[in-house]
Amino acid sequence: MPQLARRMGRAKPSAIMAVAEKAKALKAAGRDIISFSIGVPNFLPGEHVYAAAREALAKDSGQYGSNRGPDPLLDAFLAHIEALGLTGYTRAHCSTGIGAKHILYNLAEALLDDGDTIMFPTPYWTSYLDIAEIVNAKIVTLPCPAEQHYKLTPAQLDAALAEHKPKVFLFNNPSNPTGMVYTRDEIAALADVVVKHPDVWIVTDDIYNTMIFDGVGYHNFLHVKPELRDRVIFVDSLSKTYGMPGWRVGFMAGPESVAKAVTTLNSNHITNIPEITVAAAVAALSGPQDVPHAKTREFQNKRDEVLAVLESIPGVHCPRPQGAFYVFPDISCAFGKSHHGTKIANDVDLCNALLEAKGVACVPGSAFGEPNALRISYTCPTAQLGDGMQRIKDFFLELS
Ligand SMILES: Cc1ncc(COP(=O)(O)O)c(C=O)c1O
Repeated sequence: MPQLARRMGRAKPSAIMAVAEKAKALKAAGRDIISFSIGVPNFLPGEHVYAAAREALAKDSGQYGSNRGPDPLLDAFLAHIEALGLTGYTRAHCSTGIGAKHILYNLAEALLDDGDTIMFPTPYWTSYLDIAEIVNAKIVTLPCPAEQHYKLTPAQLDAALAEHKPKVFLFNNPSNPTGMVYTRDEIAALADVVVKHPDVWIVTDDIYNTMIFDGVGYHNFLHVKPELRDRVIFVDSLSKTYGMPGWRVGFMAGPESVAKAVTTLNSNHITNIPEITVAAAVAALSGPQDVPHAKTREFQNKRDEVLAVLESIPGVHCPRPQGAFYVFPDISCAFGKSHHGTKIANDVDLCNALLEAKGVACVPGSAFGEPNALRISYTCPTAQLGDGMQRIKDFFLELS
């Protein structure tokens, strides 16, 4: 029988989906399951988004569209990033894709040759590793444990850039899985390091950029060091902040050569984002922002509720997230203990036992490169959130 390509030996299905599937199967079998596993926003966009989609459907051209993205979509994105303080970009600096994941995949193809090094902090979003493996990049991860609030330090970055000389440094702010948000001072200190290393592309995956709490604000290397413009590539998406994960709309803004490369790749696989999706995306970006704003406030309250429970569990330690909709507690205090006879040696054992015993699905931290933690995605309805958190607390209190 003919063989699959060697790269498929490196491609893995998503670890997060595996937990979600197991939770789904238990639910289908009649178990009372609360899922904190998938990173879905759990809200729908405003009515004006659906109205725009319906209108586009009524006058659908049925034709192919632009590989880069049509002008109205690029213009709506440009206005959006200008409001974020990313100014001076034109349509030629931008491209679009089927979600940020697709943009990141395109960037990996566009920037990394076989064996080139990509570097990113741990904990990382799982697909960074998977995409890098598929394109056969050399992967360097920078451990940022709970003790350093899951944040990269300037000294760590400086040393790693000098030692590994990566082609791409991939940075994520706010972070999935930790919810950490870098302050302006922290970004400025990292940017001071990056300017000293002129041969590295900087990809900033900032898709949660409007979902930030406590007035911390969104900060990008370009806000503090505009001269990095010829090597910073900003990645964005409508999935989380606009409650549109299934619509599949992602963006990038960066040097013209990179936007052109991404567009060329589009021309060879997706061709274009569908016309009706484009209309919905333009409406989301340009229309009333009350739904995303209200959801950010709601998620901040939910973050507080989740943290309050975690802080009441002896031994569990959780750096305070300030964005996105995840908390990433260090649960290593449970390792070596048992839950009603079930041994907990590591994060995977813990998540399995928690799901079996209490019906709560969380993702083991090792899926994100940090086996001392687990990820809770807290977008479910408030009543479920309270119930699920109480079950987690009960589980920990029952360990012996
Ligand atoms: C940090 C990060 N980047 C990118 C993505 C992909 O988003 P999209 O739905 O736009 O492909 C996700 C989705 O979970 C994410 O958390």
